[in-house]
Amino acid sequence: MGAVATEIVGRIGLIGFDSPPVNAAGHALRMAIVEAMAAMAAEPGVEAIGLYGKGRAFIAGADITEFGKPPRDPWLPEVCNVIEASAKPVVAVLHGAALGGGLEVAISAHARIAVPGVAVGFPEVTLGVIPGAGGTQRGPRLTGIPKAIGLITTGRRIGADEALEMGLVDRIADGDPRELALHWAEAALTGELPTRRTGGIAVTPDDAALDAAEAQLRETQGHLFAPHKCVEAIRACTGPLPEGLAIERAGFNACIESPQRAGLIHAFFAERAVQKIPEAGATARDITKIGVIGAGTMGSGIASAFLLAGYPVTMVERAQDALDRGISTVGKNLDGAVKRGRMAQETRDALPLTATTEMGDLSGCDLVIEAVFEDFEVKREVLSAMEDACPGAILATNTSYLDVNALAQTLKRPEEFIGLHFFSPAHVMKLLEVVVGDRTAPEVTATAFKLGKRLGKIAVRSGVCDGFIGNRVMNHYRKAADHLVLDGASPQEIDAAMRGFGFAMGPFEVSDLAGLDIGWATRKRHAATRHPDERYSTVADTMCENGWLGRKTGRGWYLYEGGSGPNPEVAPLIEAERVRHGIAPRSFTAEEIVERYMTAMISEASRVVEEGIALRPIDVDAVFLFGYGFPRWRGGPMHHADTLGAAEIVATIERLAGDDPQFWQVPSILARMAETGGTFAEMNREE
Ligand code: 3HC
Ligand code: NAI
Repeated sequence: MGAVATEIVGRIGLIGFDSPPVNAAGHALRMAIVEAMAAMAAEPGVEAIGLYGKGRAFIAGADITEFGKPPRDPWLPEVCNVIEASAKPVVAVLHGAALGGGLEVAISAHARIAVPGVAVGFPEVTLGVIPGAGGTQRGPRLTGIPKAIGLITTGRRIGADEALEMGLVDRIADGDPRELALHWAEAALTGELPTRRTGGIAVTPDDAALDAAEAQLRETQGHLFAPHKCVEAIRACTGPLPEGLAIERAGFNACIESPQRAGLIHAFFAERAVQKIPEAGATARDITKIGVIGAGTMGSGIASAFLLAGYPVTMVERAQDALDRGISTVGKNLDGAVKRGRMAQETRDALPLTATTEMGDLSGCDLVIEAVFEDFEVKREVLSAMEDACPGAILATNTSYLDVNALAQTLKRPEEFIGLHFFSPAHVMKLLEVVVGDRTAPEVTATAFKLGKRLGKIAVRSGVCDGFIGNRVMNHYRKAADHLVLDGASPQEIDAAMRGFGFAMGPFEVSDLAGLDIGWATRKRHAATRHPDERYSTVADTMCENGWLGRKTGRGWYLYEGGSGPNPEVAPLIEAERVRHGIAPRSFTAEEIVERYMTAMISEASRVVEEGIALRPIDVDAVFLFGYGFPRWRGGPMHHADTLGAAEIVATIERLAGDDPQFWQVPSILARMAETGGTFAEMNREE
């Protein structure tokens, strides 16, 4: 019984779950629990049973690596039924995490103790499934239907206090989980801790709450599969338990078959896979004080991100007025964080921010990041000043496109230099691209990843190329969107089609939000090297020349001042551009739009993988999931590509190349995959 540790102490039988790192309830653990419960039942000296987790958690949930594979007995519902049916009282001690299947095991016990700091909840819906081992049946028996709906349909994680208030646990007690299990199992025998079978509790019906939840989910999450199945299953909780469990199981199985489940679980693993980098073995440095140069959009956001993570920050600007604007932006960002409960008011008031126009004030910083204008010469000068002001510090650039290797060459200590590409707004966006130059020292990369974690970011390793992983791929699919407009689609049709695919915003809405000048600068930079056969639309350039830079100027592709909806002056520009290109516009269905947009995205992302810019396909998925609003339930562009299959993508590219052979070219990696039937998922598994 390797997956559990059992012992008998006096009249208490202890079962300690022992399946590192987080006691996921895989086959071995499930089997071991059932066997241990049988052994404790058969042991005449045992009068009560204590369940607890060894290591970091009680049970983190079902083992999600088993989803989609043939099920192996005993299933988790059976484990829960065995625990609940025990003739001897069973007490569970929840520490670390009691999530999903872990909470289901806990609520099958006859009483529960929460250790402060525990995370409790039903996160199944965030993985595209519903609780499948009694959570939708026993959960509401403890909390009532409305609270169960709130927990189960959102996947929200709660702490010990809220769990107690909701009735999910009976007591809060601090201490070592094994000791607590021993103590409280004994208390169950003395009557100090009342025990009962959850399955025997009657639930007050609440059709109104269920109907309201259903209506709200149809409205807000109509595109998702699992949340609706949650409500369906909870609705069954007022009947006999076995019937409710059968309805829950049917819903769970339907979710397991859904492609959304595969996409969401891929996203879960993407978040963790990106941490596996070749430099993981290098010793990360301790970073205690941060310098930020430039207090514009990015500099003030980056400073805010570090302050929110508890670092003292020195922010440097070239002029006092720009510095004042930066200080005010940081203040607003942190006030917002206080409002959202991300920062305490006292911490906000005692903020360790030094704002200055003197580079010399940076001394003592062990990492300095520049976020000055996107101009090689400006950055070169600033980096050189940084190097002089902070000998021994890690130097970082937030450049979006500039060549990190070329910048490194201008430095005395290129091995201390790295790209830390934050996304706007930097204190909110999860993604951090860590751009590793040819000469970056491994411990500098390891430090960047450690820092990313402390900032609460998802750090993804990128090699050096124009735009790194994200912006490089984005530039390519943005061109596909511009070509669609040239050929006859309207920006609004494209935005609507991509929202229909699952993006929160379409590409033209995103341009308006980010500012059209960003793309303009990129196009100007690429002008000299643009392929002569490339189809180029000047519409966005003309808009920029007219000062229509998007939201910040009140108009872009859409109107934000003096009206709403599409900017009426854009359509004539598009019309004129079509005439200039000699194009007779045609109409496009939403499917055709999505096909071109996604095929362009997958094509460039494939090249990024092939060139080794991304370590693995799943790293590209992480970039798009956490930095570009890619719908999580679709898993990311590479995961999506696997659902289409390389052969189909290649056939699409070849068909589209008939109209535009310069843009639509089959990446060689996809051609090989199409021949061999290969997938990106296989490449993720190769280490
Ligand atoms: N199944 C399989 N592996 C899991 C897992 C799970 N449920 N939970 C975590 N892991 C793995 C991670 O992938 C990671 O593996 P790696 O080291 O190879 O990358 C390792 O365990 C450690 O995980 P973290 O890095 O996330 O560790 P943390 O300490 O940061 O976080 C945690 C711990 C809060 C438990 C977090 O891992 C977590 O949130 N896990 C998922 C919880 C969850 O969603 N449970 C519900 C599962 S669905 C279910 O139970 C269905 C049921 O109703 C039938
Ligand atoms: P910005 O124009 O808002 O801010 C730049 C700031 O740098 C200005 O306040 C300017 O006064 C200051 N500055 C210029 N030279 C300086 C010097 N020598 N010393 C001190 N301060 C100096 O620009 P933004 O948008 O913040 O961009 C900064 C960098 O971040 C650029 O490299 C950009 O490519 C990159 N970036 C921008 C993103 C965005 O969405 N805006 C996203 C990710 C990266």
